[in-house]
Amino acid sequence: MTTGEQERQHWDGLASDLSNVGGGDTMPPPGHFIQFLARGWRDTQADGDLLDLGCGPGRLAVPVSERLRRRVWAVDVSPNMLAQINPAAELVWPVLGDGRAIPDAVQNIAMAWSVLMFQHVGLDVQIAYTAQVRNRLLPGGVFVAQVVTFGPVHDFSHPVAAWQAVAYGEMAGMDLVWAQRDPVVREWTWLAWRKP
Ligand SMILES: C[S@@+](CC[C@H](N)C(=O)[O-])C[C@H]1O[C@@H](n2cnc3c(N)ncnc32)[C@H](O)[C@@H]1O
Repeated sequence: MTTGEQERQHWDGLASDLSNVGGGDTMPPPGHFIQFLARGWRDTQADGDLLDLGCGPGRLAVPVSERLRRRVWAVDVSPNMLAQINPAAELVWPVLGDGRAIPDAVQNIAMAWSVLMFQHVGLDVQIAYTAQVRNRLLPGGVFVAQVVTFGPVHDFSHPVAAWQAVAYGEMAGMDLVWAQRDPVVREWTWLAWRKP
C-alpha cells in the first residue's frame, strides 16, 4: 500500500512525459471521456462549481471549464502535474492535495469527476475520497467516477469489482444514477451517484 507522499513522487516523475497521462496514443481521445461527464452534467440537479479529482495536467478540466463556463477545482497530489495546466485556463483553479484529503477550499460542488485516478490508489482511498466528494457536493450534485474492474495489481494499480465500486457511493449516502461499462475499454466502468 502506497502513501500519498509515494504517489506524489511517482506522479511528479511522470508529469514531464504527458504521453503517460491519459494513456497516450493507445487510449481514446478526451472526447471519449467527456461524453460521460456530459451525461453526468445532464443528471445534475445542483448549481455550483465543478471538481476534477486527480486532474493531472488538466486534460479534462480545461475543456470542460470552457464548455460549461464554470469554475473547475482541479485537485491533484502532484505539483508537477498541476504545473502543466495551461495558465490561460482562467476557470481552472489548481489545488494541491496530500493524496488523501480534498482541500477545504473545495466546496459547493454541482458535479465532481475522477477519471484515470481511482485505479492508482488503494481501495480504502477510493472509498474515503468518495465519501469526501459527497461532503463537498451540493444536494442534487453528481459524482462521476471511472474505475478499472480488472487488470494487474501492483503499487499503483488497484482494480475493483464493479459491484464493489457501486457500493462506494451507497456507503457515502448517495444514490446510484447510472453505471455503464466503457464501450471501448472494456475493463473500465463508469459510475454516477447523486447526493440526495
Ligand atoms: C493517469 S493520470 C490522469 C489525469 C487526468 N484525470 C486525466 O484523465 O487526464 C492520474 C492522475 O492522478 C493523480 N493522483 C494519483 N494519486 C493521487 C491521489 N492519491 N490523490 C490525488 N491525485 C492523485 C496523479 O498525480 C495524476 O495526475
